[in-house]
Amino acid sequence: MKIHISSTLLFFLSTTTFLTLTTAGNPPPPPSNDTDFIHTSCRTTLYPQTCINSLSGYSSAVQRDPGRLARVAINVTLSKTKHMAKYVSNLTRDVDYGGSPRLAAAVHDCHSLLADAVYGVRESLGQMGTLNGTGEALRFQISNVQTWMSAALTNLETCTDGFEDVAADGGGVKDDVCGRAVKVKEVTSNALALVNSFADTVQTP
Ligand SMILES: *[C@@H]1O[C@H](CO)[C@@H](O)[C@H](O)[C@H]1NC(C)=O
Ligand SMILES: *[C@@H]1O[C@H](CO)[C@@H](O)[C@H](O)[C@H]1NC(C)=O
Ligand SMILES: *[C@@H]1O[C@H](CO)[C@@H](O)[C@H](O)[C@H]1NC(C)=O
Ligand SMILES: *[C@@H]1O[C@H](CO)[C@@H](O)[C@H](O)[C@H]1NC(C)=O
Repeated sequence: MKIHISSTLLFFLSTTTFLTLTTAGNPPPPPSNDTDFIHTSCRTTLYPQTCINSLSGYSSAVQRDPGRLARVAINVTLSKTKHMAKYVSNLTRDVDYGGSPRLAAAVHDCHSLLADAVYGVRESLGQMGTLNGTGEALRFQISNVQTWMSAALTNLETCTDGFEDVAADGGGVKDDVCGRAVKVKEVTSNALALVNSFADTVQTP
């Protein structure tokens, strides 16, 4: 009797484990339309609402192609990063005469970090437009994009860190720049996550 019970229990446990594993291993049900595809893909990012807001307008261009979605997300990142770089470049002129050398230094540093980020995101967009390999070659091209996008993300974090020891200024420049960096960071992080999802779809023989 004891043996019978424990073997039933064992059977039950192993069945449960098996079911849990198969559920975890199964992909989610395929999206039923292009809008649904963006929503489903955005759920894998760290900032899903930002993702949906910034990308759902492109659903007809993206259709259900993870590579196109990643490319559009990178393009959105490029335009936000470029805009912020220009904005901060304008600010550098004001802070130079604002009487706070620390604030001025942080704004200048942030501007060069953003300029670097624009370069890397632009390279990423170019690479996404010229993917031509398969298997390992394609993975290598995508890994370059992952490297540039991670570097851009780090640059945005470094921009914010640069203001850590700067006192909040009367003009609100610190809060303004840090607030904008957080928003650009969100779209950049999302774009990187979507590139990672795209990389996962590449088959290696
Ligand atoms: C797309 O699919 C979702 C989920 O199945 C559904 O709720 C939505 O109404 C669909 N949208 C269109 C435009 O068909
Ligand atoms: C990126 O977006 C701009 C509009 O914001 C568009 O003109 C351009 O063609 C897009 N580039 C790519 C490679 O998708
Ligand atoms: C930067 O300054 C120029 C000239 O004042 C202005 O036209 C432009 O809109 C500003 N750009 C941003 C992003 O604030
Ligand atoms: C793929 O594109 C790269 C440039 O991005 C080029 O150097 C390479 O020759 C291309 N390969 C093929 C097979 O077309």
